[in-house]
Amino acid sequence: MSPDIKIREALPEDRESIQVLMSTYFLDIEGVAIEDFAVALTGTKIVGAGAIVYGRFPEVHSIAVHPNYRGKGIGLSLVRYLLLRIKGSSDAGSCVYARTTSPGFFEKLGFAEMEPASKARLWEDCAGCDRLNTCRQSVMCLKLG
Ligand SMILES: CC(C)(COP(=O)(O)OP(=O)(O)OC[C@H]1O[C@@H](n2cnc3c(N)ncnc32)[C@H](O)[C@@H]1OP(=O)(O)O)[C@@H](O)C(=O)NCCC(=O)NCCS
Repeated sequence: MSPDIKIREALPEDRESIQVLMSTYFLDIEGVAIEDFAVALTGTKIVGAGAIVYGRFPEVHSIAVHPNYRGKGIGLSLVRYLLLRIKGSSDAGSCVYARTTSPGFFEKLGFAEMEPASKARLWEDCAGCDRLNTCRQSVMCLKLG
């Protein structure tokens, strides 16, 4: 990743920029706490963001990189930063999950694809979703520790 890109924890004042970035890809961050996000910046411009949220287990959520900055290693660096943050936590559980339409990206980080049926077992919103059988999201899992 280019040395002029910095990654840090998100601050409350970053919320609007994160929202704008996510809306580029129709990703919804409603209900995700700002302190669960990390951001990638060049100068003061936010060019990438992502979160790990906690339900019954940690889940990588809403990873996005600005279209002009994709393919430069920012996405991988952001997820690695987020993973380091949970690895130190004793209540993190044994796996981190992701629901994604970009399984190849997560495989680069060591995640493995799970069988589609696991979606309904892991997430109540998936279990109750009437598009469960046609959903294009893959379930990815990385063992922690
Ligand atoms: C997916 C995304 C976050 C990746 O960020 P990025 O900064 O462009 O990714 P990186 O440059 O760190 O990519 C690193 C590697 O992953 C690969 N990769 C990136 N996106 C990929 C995808 N969608 N599918 C498969 N591989 C992908 C790259 O080819 C690269 O591989 P290489 O090192 O062998 O060349 C970014 O493309 C994005 O914002 N996509 C739209 C939103 C989205 O789909 N988010 C994820 C689903 S929640």
